[in-house]
Parts: sequence; C-alpha cells; structure tokens
Amino acid sequence: MPEMVVTNDDLSKIMDTSDEWISSRTGIRERRLAREETTASMSVTAAKRALENAGITAQEIDLIIVGTITGDYVTPSTACEVQAALGADKAVAFDINAACSGFMFALHIADAYIKTGVYKTALILGAETLSKIMDWNDRSTCVLFGDGAGAAVVRSDETGLLAYDQGSDGARGTVLTCRSRENNNPFVKNPTEPSYTHMDGQEVYKFAVTTVPASIKKVVGEAGLTIEDIDCFALHQANIRIIQSVAKRLKAPEEKFPTSLDHCGNVSAASVPILLDEINRKGILKPGMKIVLSGFGGGLTWGSAVLEW
Ligand code: COA
Repeated sequence: MPEMVVTNDDLSKIMDTSDEWISSRTGIRERRLAREETTASMSVTAAKRALENAGITAQEIDLIIVGTITGDYVTPSTACEVQAALGADKAVAFDINAACSGFMFALHIADAYIKTGVYKTALILGAETLSKIMDWNDRSTCVLFGDGAGAAVVRSDETGLLAYDQGSDGARGTVLTCRSRENNNPFVKNPTEPSYTHMDGQEVYKFAVTTVPASIKKVVGEAGLTIEDIDCFALHQANIRIIQSVAKRLKAPEEKFPTSLDHCGNVSAASVPILLDEINRKGILKPGMKIVLSGFGGGLTWGSAVLEW
C-alpha cells in the first residue's frame, strides 16, 4: 500500500464530511492514497513479496494477470510492466477489467490455464490507484476508496481451489461507472460527463447483499461442503454493513469474516489479496482450513471461490 495515510478526520478538513458519518456507515477509518506510487510500482512490490513468500524465482512464472481498472497506461498493461520489472521473460502477461472482482477473475483464469496444462505457474494480482478516478468533489464516493496492490502465486497442486462461481450482469452496469478518457478526435463531440467514478450507493448495496450470499452458497455446495464447514470468509472490503449482512444471510458468525477496510478502505481488485495476505501473515490461516474468497462490484461482476489452505 502507499505510504500516505489519510484518516477520516483528514478528509473532514477538506470536504463536508466527518469521521462519524464515514465510520458509522462503512467501517472505514483511514485509507492509503498514492502520491509517488503508481499502480505498477505497488504491483511490483506486491509481486516481489509474493514470489519470496512462495519461494520461487521470476523465471518460473508462465503467466501474469493483473486485475485492475486503474492501470498507469492504456498500453502497455500493468502486467507487462510487472513482467519487465521482475525480469519474468518467460511469462505471458495481460490485464483484466472486472473492477472489484478483478483478483477473483484472475484466479479463475489462472486456474483454467493450469488445469488444462497450458501453464504451470501463475502470478495474479489485484492493483488499483482509485484516487485518480475519484471525483474529489463528490463526498459520497471519494471517502470510500483507497489505493494498494496484492499478489499471489498460483501453482498446480493436489488441493487448493475446490470450487468457483462467477457471474456478470452488464444490464445493471450503470449503477457503478467511470467514463474513459476524453476523446480529442476533432470529428466527434465529447460527452459532457467527466471521467470520474459515479455510483448509486444504495443500488450497489442491494446488489452486494443479495448476489454475494447466493454466490457463496452455490460455490460452497459445489465444493461438497456446508456453510458451517467454512473456517474463514475473506470478502471484498467495500463496507462493514455489507459484510455483516452477508454473514447474517449465510447464518455464519461474524468472527469468521476478517476485515481490513478500517485501515484500507475499498481497494477494489486489490482488497481480497491484501486481506488474504494480512490474515496469512497474522497466522490466522492454518493448513487444511476451508476458506471462501469473494469479490463483487462494477460491471456488475462477482466471483467466489472455496480454497483448502
Ligand atoms: N459525509 C457526510 N454526509 C454524506 C457523505 C459524506 N461523505 N456522503 C453522503 N452524505 C450525505 C448525503 O448527501 C445524504 O444527505 P441528505 O440526506 O441530506 O441528502 C445523506 O448523507 C445520506 O446519503 P445516502 O447516500 O442516502 O447514504 P446511505 O445510507 O445510502 O450510505 C453509502 C451511503 C455509500 C455508504 C451506502 O449506500 C453504501 O455503502 N453503498 C455501497 C457502496 C459500495 O460499497 N460500493 C462499492 C462496491 S464494490
């Protein structure tokens, strides 16, 4: 994550908001915002730590996928920038755009390549500099998001990914949008809306609290397990109320839902891998544990997986 910490009180000095409003509605107390860091630089740091943690070299990577909607360039992709920085010259590298589900979609793509024998070792990332696509005059969105990156190495093994569910609902995509850059083609007229994030918070909330529990129930069933069998639910960190509502709908204790949103905010595609890394380093995850990962957001998109740790 970037170095700069921005608290809710810091925000209340530059806009009409308060720690009370933000923390009571979302659970967010502070977030990291990039100044010097870029989507690629945070990705490279996360990637190096993931390689070290997995005990492999960059030469062993066959595939690099970055889930991001905030790459530094339209081209080259963030994945190609990561490849160059790591010297992973045997890898094929590309980005995918699935907003807050980006890491989950990357995981499923990597799994499909590995299962079909095309590649053996993948490096997957979720990385975002959301601060550059926020409208800092819109207090209802800019206070929710943060910047950061997370990475994981995925390899073929006996255990691991037990089941996967993903979906998209483009027809409801207008509830969370961010226009692309302005067009300077002299033959066309630019649209009037600026290229910042726009969100219908209540519609996104309704989507999340219905779709996520349904997706988790489905994937847990497909893994031949019950909700009670799951030791830990590592969900996309959008809002504590969404997480509490999902826990309630699944009839699972809230203690099984670790959080990082209090100090990260919503980091979109980076939020599941950052949370996974935090709970891994805290020693919460033990071999054999059954874990659910679930990401959801813009598109609309969602993806859930059951892992055996
Ligand atoms: N500080 C203070 N007041 C704020 C504010 C802020 N940062 N942002 C909005 N408000 C005000 C609004 O202007 C509104 O005022 P009004 O009643 O005078 O018009 C009031 O707070 C209530 O706004 P509303 O949008 O109805 O609040 P809400 O209870 O729906 O909560 C969210 C807003 C965004 C916290 C909530 O809808 C949410 O969490 N949605 C899910 C969003 C999400 O997680 N998206 C990412 C998914 S990947």
